[in-house]
Amino acid sequence: MTNILKLNKISPLADKVFPQGYVMKDEIENPVGIMVRSFKMHDYEIPESVLCVARAGAGVNNIPLDKCADKGIVVFNTPGANSNAVKELVICSLLLCGRKIIDSVNWTQKLTGDDIGKQVEDGKKAFIGGEILGKTIAVIGMGAIGIKVANACVALGMKVVGYDPNFGPEKKALTNPEVVIMSDLQKAMDSADFVTIHVPFLDSTKYMINSKSLASMKDGVVIINCARGELVNNDDIKAAIKSGKVAKYVTDFPAADVIGVENIITTPHIGASTPEAEDNCAVMAAEEMVDYIENGNIRNSVNFPALKKDRNGKRLCVLFKAEAEAKVKSLLSDDTVTAVRGNYGYAISDFSGCRASCEEALAQVPGVLKVRKIG
Ligand code: MLT
Repeated sequence: MTNILKLNKISPLADKVFPQGYVMKDEIENPVGIMVRSFKMHDYEIPESVLCVARAGAGVNNIPLDKCADKGIVVFNTPGANSNAVKELVICSLLLCGRKIIDSVNWTQKLTGDDIGKQVEDGKKAFIGGEILGKTIAVIGMGAIGIKVANACVALGMKVVGYDPNFGPEKKALTNPEVVIMSDLQKAMDSADFVTIHVPFLDSTKYMINSKSLASMKDGVVIINCARGELVNNDDIKAAIKSGKVAKYVTDFPAADVIGVENIITTPHIGASTPEAEDNCAVMAAEEMVDYIENGNIRNSVNFPALKKDRNGKRLCVLFKAEAEAKVKSLLSDDTVTAVRGNYGYAISDFSGCRASCEEALAQVPGVLKVRKIG
């Protein structure tokens, strides 16, 4: 049996991906893989048997990536699998802010009497709101979600600027040519009527929307945050709403200090909560996990490099710290493929070409994190 532990509710479509002999449950002994969504794993004791963790979603701030890497645990995510769902919530947020939809729905719900038609016609002037056509939106972070948002906004007749420090040819090929890519984050935000953020939460992105970054933005700017709550300083955004600098803030990550505040619209982290996105994420996460457990191939890892090798019988897979690369290579056969990303590296080698003592020798190399024979 190959046991998979799930720490959150995961779409049952994942089970269809697992080969015979795999069992996924909420509680299970000696799991080799963990499936997770938003469960916070930082203080979670990961069982020794675990080879990999798959995040059914994009954000991985709930997983201790380096701690996992140091234990030889590969962490995957599912970039793009829920991007359409998030894009649709962003488009909805734009329209909610442009038009006074929430206020007008709430007002209409309270109407009573025989003259509702008259009350409606008299009252509607309080709910005049602007169109998004021709307005400028800054899309901060042109990953799978940002690109979809940017393209949809072009289709809706908006002027779109995109900011992404890693905007290479692959992203360019997917992006509508009308999107103007800017290399200066602040200039991109300052040019916009709407700013939508699509970056991961990292030390470097914490509170990227703050009093300083807000100061030079247009008066009456709308900020949309369907990425992570920690990207926005709530005290600063509340002050900016009070001063009129920010007209509205939409966040999919409500905290006590923003709930009920006028002109802050909160939704309960529903960006990826569609059956379609949940299915896509579960299937992609299960596929990545199975290919790693069965073949040692790594795709969409967030703590080890991507690496794939055609299967040719038994193989040795070695996770190591970057500084151990030369020593690891010297012990493996000529057909070995290796890759290093940041502080961590990975090697896959056909077992037939290795010396008999190779496995034991590798395990002794300082910086080698895991040696696994497959097949
Ligand atoms: C994500 O990071 O992709 C979302 O937070 C997914 C989710 O809601 O689980």
